[in-house]
Amino acid sequence: MSAPSLQPKDNVRTAASTKPVGSADPILAVRHLTREFELPRAPKHRRVIRAVDDVSFEIRAGETLGLVGESGSGKTTTARCILRAIEPTRGEIRFRMRDGQAVELSRLPERKLRPLRREMQMVFQDPQASLDPRMTVKDIVGEPLLVHGLATQHQLRARVAEILQKVGLKPEHMERFPAAFSTGQRQRIGIARALVMQPSFVVADEPVSTLDVSVQAQVLNLLKDLQAELRLTYLFVAHNLDVVRHFCDRVAVMYAGRVVELAETRELFANPRHPYTRALLAAAPVPDPDAPFQMPLVGEGADNGALPFGCAFQSRCGECTLRCRGERPNLIQRGNALVACHLYSGL
Ligand SMILES: Nc1ncnc2c1ncn2[C@@H]1O[C@H](COP(=O)(O)OP(=O)(O)OP(=O)(O)O)[C@@H](O)[C@H]1O
Ligand SMILES: [Mg+2]
Repeated sequence: MSAPSLQPKDNVRTAASTKPVGSADPILAVRHLTREFELPRAPKHRRVIRAVDDVSFEIRAGETLGLVGESGSGKTTTARCILRAIEPTRGEIRFRMRDGQAVELSRLPERKLRPLRREMQMVFQDPQASLDPRMTVKDIVGEPLLVHGLATQHQLRARVAEILQKVGLKPEHMERFPAAFSTGQRQRIGIARALVMQPSFVVADEPVSTLDVSVQAQVLNLLKDLQAELRLTYLFVAHNLDVVRHFCDRVAVMYAGRVVELAETRELFANPRHPYTRALLAAAPVPDPDAPFQMPLVGEGADNGALPFGCAFQSRCGECTLRCRGERPNLIQRGNALVACHLYSGL
């Protein structure tokens, strides 16, 4: 994939410029989240992919937590489990609702999830694929309100007009179909659809990766402005570290289904600890926005279905020791970061 460079010169409002890092109060706490997929039975034995493996983190109210890692590291699966778009295999997901009530939602039946679904929304990667081409903007954006019984047909127009204006579109766009819009405008429609429900927590899974570099900064700035105006908390999934650097307050780095490092963005970029994080940062920023994204790492990406004993990163790590082959490192606090690497275990 291409990894466009997004520097401050692109006028992206940074995490730090809009507000201090979110309050210490978590809106979401994920504990030991695990999601396995069973692959079609191989002739001899059952094969399970552990797409997400014992992941724990918190997201503070008002902050943006970035989730980064190469393809297949489990970012989307983590996000989809949190929204209960797929069922977690194990673990807890505790969400604090607007009224202050904390709900453990990992096992809630669909009926009890309904009020939570209003507060937790998703912005998808590909606005082309996520908008039904046969529906008007009014129906696309207004549909969640009707499904949840939050507006009558009569009220719908006003609500949709209001949210369209917030995302930089015009009320008269309501009667048009998605094909009449540019990809950047389509992503604005996708954002409007997520925000019309007045959520407090939004998962954005690669929300700008299919957009032209020229419109990426506009959409990111829109998301930042809306976050401040509507007091939103974001889980922001991305490949592009340049985008993450300017958009997120804290970053969790995933490798082979596990969080291997988690720190404030500034700390992570200034002082990356895990060899995988260091390798990721060495690959960014890419000077040529059209250059293919390249990991300066030897070896293939991890095969979640056949991970080695010990550390999953061992075969690609220049600092691998005997201990890394025999014992899996846990995520531990080191300085201002959490890191899962034996280089730091004995300190
Ligand atoms: N429905 C599924 N059935 C089987 N395996 C799956 C399924 N969904 C995801 N996986 C596997 O789980 C692992 C994690 O996938 P996931 O989509 O979460 O990664 P990702 O980090 O979001 O990658 P990308 O950056 O490419 O979007 C991959 O090995 C993937 O093939
Ligand atoms: Mg993904």
